[in-house]
Amino acid sequence: MSTTIVFAFLILLLLHSLGTSISANDSSDILYDISPFIRVYTNGTIQRLIGTTVAPPLTDPITRVQSKDIVIHPKVNLTARLYLPGNADPAKKIPLLVYFHGGAFFTESAASPPYHRHLNSVVARANVVAVSVNYRLAPEHPLPVCYEDSWLALKWVFSHLKGYGRKEPWIKNYVDFRHVHVGGDSAGANIAHNMAIRAGSDHERGGVLLDGLFLNCPHFWGEKRIGFEEDASNISIKNMMESIWVHAYPNSRGLDDPLLNPALDPNLSRLGCRKVLVYVAGNDILRGRGWYYKQALRKSGWNGTVKVVLVKGEEHDFGVRFPDAPNAVQMMENFSAFLQV
Ligand SMILES: *[C@@H]1O[C@H](CO)[C@@H](O)[C@H](O)[C@H]1NC(C)=O
Ligand SMILES: *[C@@H]1O[C@H](CO)[C@@H](O)[C@H](O)[C@H]1NC(C)=O
Ligand SMILES: *[C@@H]1O[C@H](CO)[C@@H](O)[C@H](O)[C@H]1NC(C)=O
Ligand SMILES: *[C@@H]1O[C@H](CO)[C@@H](O)[C@H](O)[C@H]1NC(C)=O
Ligand SMILES: *[C@@H]1O[C@H](CO)[C@@H](O)[C@H](O)[C@H]1NC(C)=O
Ligand SMILES: *[C@@H]1O[C@H](CO)[C@@H](O)[C@H](O)[C@H]1NC(C)=O
Ligand SMILES: *[C@@H]1O[C@H](CO)[C@@H](O)[C@H](O)[C@H]1NC(C)=O
Repeated sequence: MSTTIVFAFLILLLLHSLGTSISANDSSDILYDISPFIRVYTNGTIQRLIGTTVAPPLTDPITRVQSKDIVIHPKVNLTARLYLPGNADPAKKIPLLVYFHGGAFFTESAASPPYHRHLNSVVARANVVAVSVNYRLAPEHPLPVCYEDSWLALKWVFSHLKGYGRKEPWIKNYVDFRHVHVGGDSAGANIAHNMAIRAGSDHERGGVLLDGLFLNCPHFWGEKRIGFEEDASNISIKNMMESIWVHAYPNSRGLDDPLLNPALDPNLSRLGCRKVLVYVAGNDILRGRGWYYKQALRKSGWNGTVKVVLVKGEEHDFGVRFPDAPNAVQMMENFSAFLQV
């Protein structure tokens, strides 16, 4: 073999390897990209960019909070992580928090380290039992699956008041069913709100009676821009918001679906709880929606108390993402106080 041929061969090999490394992530292979959450390829490959790590359910060495993973509904593999305070005493029933994690409907889980930490923290501080629900994620399970799963989880919680069915001792023995709260952050707050709507709807209620609703940086949106959302500087964030909904829920009624835009929900006045606490972050494009939610609730004639706390200088979901920051610590204190009777 002449050196020319060897050289040409090496060049070809180099070109070939360059070619494959480029085409492996050629943008034409991407069906949609919702960074920093998810990238979906035309060949069906789903790449989750965050929220795939798992923290084991161990007794937390600092808070002494215990946790365990349980199956709620084997048929659809609906699972949850349960939390019990270290000093729980069956003689003293305590409130229950049913929590829905965030992650744009596409990512994260109850076992994800930031959520595991968040729940340990609230359970220790508020002295409540918690159920952190692993609702199934889009796009494998497009919306409304997350709402159906979450509703199943709530009905399962309240089935502990009935005589039949398998009982989970942490719920049966410790929970004061007069004080069951739902809460969540971001997409999880959207789910929590929609659970309270169902709980207030006569034909769906099915024994679900909620006390409070906690919404941390809720993921609400709509067709019409409100206030500062008009600002062109955030066009990419607005596009992302719309892209999330369109891809998570291909068969929705659009951006004004009441599941995404509660202000347009004719059933808003029947929100099934007596108190609501909303957190919004000063640098979050979603902050206007938290205020709008309060206005809409007031206008609807809903008979309960709603408080919105704006935390200046903070980013979306700061309470979960930066738990050691002073504002996050204060939010945790206020959230815990809210869960008290
Ligand atoms: C799908 O496409 C991506 C990007 O082109 C590639 O990295 C991945 O290996 C492909 N997966 C399958 C199963 O073909
Ligand atoms: C290219 O796509 C694969 C998955 O198909 C992924 O594992 C890899 O991280 C991607 N690379 C870049 C630079 O995005
Ligand atoms: C069931 O759910 C758990 C946790 O949500 C997950 O780790 C597991 O892979 C799932 N199993 C199946 C068969 O989907
Ligand atoms: C409002 O509630 C009624 C009865 O509970 C239900 O039939 C209807 O679908 C709800 N409307 C919306 C937009 O969810
Ligand atoms: C645009 O988005 C950034 C990042 O979320 C935020 O800090 C800024 O306040 C937003 N601008 C407006 C006008 O809302
Ligand atoms: C509003 O709620 C209060 C207590 O929560 C109750 O006493 C009152 O009757 C309610 N009013 C209406 C119109 O439902
Ligand atoms: C917490 O609640 C206190 C008392 O209502 C309030 O002054 C403070 O601004 C709140 N702070 C945060 C970060 O929640």
